[in-house]
Amino acid sequence: MSIEIPAGLTELLQGYTLEVLRRRPSDLVEFAVQYFTRLRESRSQDGAGSGGKGIIFDGELVQPEPNGDEDDDDDEDSDFEPPPPSRFSRRVSVCAEAFNPDEEEEDAETRVVHPKTDEQRSRLQEACRDILLFKTLDTEQFAEVLDAMFEVRVQTKEHIINQGDDGDNFYVIERGVYDIVVRKDGVGCCVGKYDNKGSFGELALMYNTPRAATIIATTEGALWGLDRATFRRLIVKNNAKKRRMYETFIESVSLLTSLDASERMKLVDVLGGKAFQDGERIITQGEKADCFYIVESGEVKIMMKSKTKADQQDNAEVEIARCHRGQYFGELALVANKPRAASVYAVGGVKCLIVDVQAFERLLGSCKEIMQRNIATYEEQLVALFGSSADLRD
Ligand code: CMP
Ligand code: CMP
Repeated sequence: MSIEIPAGLTELLQGYTLEVLRRRPSDLVEFAVQYFTRLRESRSQDGAGSGGKGIIFDGELVQPEPNGDEDDDDDEDSDFEPPPPSRFSRRVSVCAEAFNPDEEEEDAETRVVHPKTDEQRSRLQEACRDILLFKTLDTEQFAEVLDAMFEVRVQTKEHIINQGDDGDNFYVIERGVYDIVVRKDGVGCCVGKYDNKGSFGELALMYNTPRAATIIATTEGALWGLDRATFRRLIVKNNAKKRRMYETFIESVSLLTSLDASERMKLVDVLGGKAFQDGERIITQGEKADCFYIVESGEVKIMMKSKTKADQQDNAEVEIARCHRGQYFGELALVANKPRAASVYAVGGVKCLIVDVQAFERLLGSCKEIMQRNIATYEEQLVALFGSSADLRD
């Protein structure tokens, strides 16, 4: 009598056996439950199965069976969770050359999955909603990023990143305030802060350089970490596409002509693209500013609350200017360190490139002179419209 062995069975059992031999668990049945539960979760999160990419089990790569039936049941009860990569564990070696996505050989076709409760997942999604580096990912890539992220609770005064260290993780802020300290000639200087939103830790991972700043929690907080390999596999690879998409356009933006090619590229690497619908408010007068915009396509109008008494009562706004492709707005509040001076609305469908305040400070210093000069033009516009001078400067 011949018995046909189902396709995939040998590999499936071999994978399990190998893990048993490596880890020597005391309870083989319990270990089997955990192992196969993780395998099933990884495949169902992968949609069409893990396709031979492998799963991370207990922080290590495990190859799943090549074939087999799908089972999409979610098992939220599994309490076995791969430990998140430690942010204190140092990488062994890092070369200081700039990353070239076309030459890079990634080991990481590996999908990392840190199981999350529904509550964690919704907090994570909210924290990641406006993260610029995620804006150009497609739906599948974004889902992979969310799967791979892990929660990190932080205490006041904790150093999340130390300048000079090798880069292990990228961090998205869920809550908490964090100082950015840059040491120069032995003196540490606080160059900015993250206030309950944003992300940090991308530079060392993108360019294979040591950490460029120290990040210190000044309150208790919560972060979501993304391991280096997943960041490079998804975000950095995506940057190659971004560079191709935006290179020519960025070269044509007159504000940026003082930047050299590598500075422009670094700007492209960290900017995000966002589309707005007709009438949508992009900036609100009086609000705190945390980013700057370049119009990629379409038109926006700049509106300011009227200064006449009658208009002030019904909160009427007066149109001051319009911006088109290649022009920028939202720089004034960053340069002058003040709340937004006006509101900005989409006129028809608009696409903008967005640069966060930290990248703005780091990369656009040489463009600030042009921006400063423009403030005089704004002031003249306001005198012409309202008859009184406005104090737009720092
Ligand atoms: P990375 O160098 O990996 O680690 C420190 C992080 O601080 C850096 O990435 C940026 O995300 C963030 N950062 C914010 N502002 C600055 C700045 N002015 N210089 C360097 N890093 C900064
Ligand atoms: P910000 O104050 O950050 O947000 C509103 C933006 O409107 C402002 O930056 C400028 O980029 C833009 N703007 C255009 N014209 C004017 C003007 N005359 N006065 C103030 N802001 C203006």
